[in-house]
Amino acid sequence: MWRLKGREFRTCLAVLILVTFRLSKIFANEEGDALYIFRNNLQDPNNIMDNWNRTDKNPCKWNHVTCNSLDSVVRLDMGNALLSGQLVPQLALLTNLQYLELYANNLSGHIPVYLENLTNLVSLELYTNNFDGPIPDALGKLFKLRFLRLNSNNLSGSIPMSLTSLYSLQVLDLSSNRLSGPVPHNGSFSLFTAVSYANNLDLCGPITEKPCPGSSPPAVSSPDGDSKPNIGAIVGGVVAVWCYYLLLW
Ligand SMILES: *[C@@H]1O[C@H](CO)[C@@H](O)[C@H](O)[C@H]1NC(C)=O
Ligand SMILES: *[C@@H]1O[C@H](CO)[C@@H](O)[C@H](O)[C@H]1NC(C)=O
Ligand SMILES: *[C@@H]1O[C@H](CO)[C@@H](O)[C@H](O)[C@H]1NC(C)=O
Ligand SMILES: *[C@@H]1O[C@H](CO)[C@@H](O)[C@H](O)[C@H]1NC(C)=O
Ligand SMILES: *[C@@H]1O[C@H](CO)[C@@H](O)[C@H](O)[C@H]1NC(C)=O
Repeated sequence: MWRLKGREFRTCLAVLILVTFRLSKIFANEEGDALYIFRNNLQDPNNIMDNWNRTDKNPCKWNHVTCNSLDSVVRLDMGNALLSGQLVPQLALLTNLQYLELYANNLSGHIPVYLENLTNLVSLELYTNNFDGPIPDALGKLFKLRFLRLNSNNLSGSIPMSLTSLYSLQVLDLSSNRLSGPVPHNGSFSLFTAVSYANNLDLCGPITEKPCPGSSPPAVSSPDGDSKPNIGAIVGGVVAVWCYYLLLW
């Protein structure tokens, strides 16, 4: 009986798979691996990621990385660091990430749709880079977002209406891009003023003082505007009739 029979073999295999799976859960450094791939895709002339050592059991001691008490990454602070290259989908594995601070670098490519999976994001700061393409509609799923600064890139297309339902949003800067089309002014966007949208290609709507093509012209000829002259005319008429009677007396 040196050979395992079919059934014993299968049981053995199942146990082995289970044990391997449990061990891989314990020893896996999923977030560290994700960050390592992110690093490998970037040029980093100042070596700001030089202590990112793949053999560490987690990335929590790496420069510019902050973890919570469960050793899960909550912040990436890599602004002003001369980084170039593109972001990688593995970033979406940092499910507890709250602050993604990559401003003032030379990052390029589109703003990735997979950022929608970072549902704990409080701050997304990608300003002053070389990002192009549209602002993804999917950013409208990041309901915890308080700071969204995408200014000073080369973003084109229109501002997604989905962003108006980000009710936590306190700071919005989309200025100095190549955006066009209507600027939303409802929902969370009722807070923001023209400075949030300045210096774009062709934005329109009440906040920009440039009417959108085919929209009703602004306030001057709205029903509200019309009612004032009417009241004036009625009052004027009443006064005139009253004066007329006084004169007749
Ligand atoms: C990474 O850490 C291991 C173990 O501490 C060390 O032997 C290795 O030299 C480190 N690698 C780098 C690139 O720093
Ligand atoms: C984002 O989440 C969706 C739905 O859970 C999943 O299908 C997709 O693979 C995720 N994307 C990434 C890059 O992890
Ligand atoms: C910025 O990135 C582009 C590629 O997207 C590259 O050609 C250029 O040299 C980079 N500039 C700097 C200052 O790193
Ligand atoms: C910005 O994008 C436009 C096309 O949308 C392109 O023609 C232009 O060269 C880009 N500018 C920069 C600085 O990358
Ligand atoms: C704002 O208006 C747009 C278009 O009229 C609509 O699609 C969007 O759902 C509105 N947002 C909110 C938060 O009501």
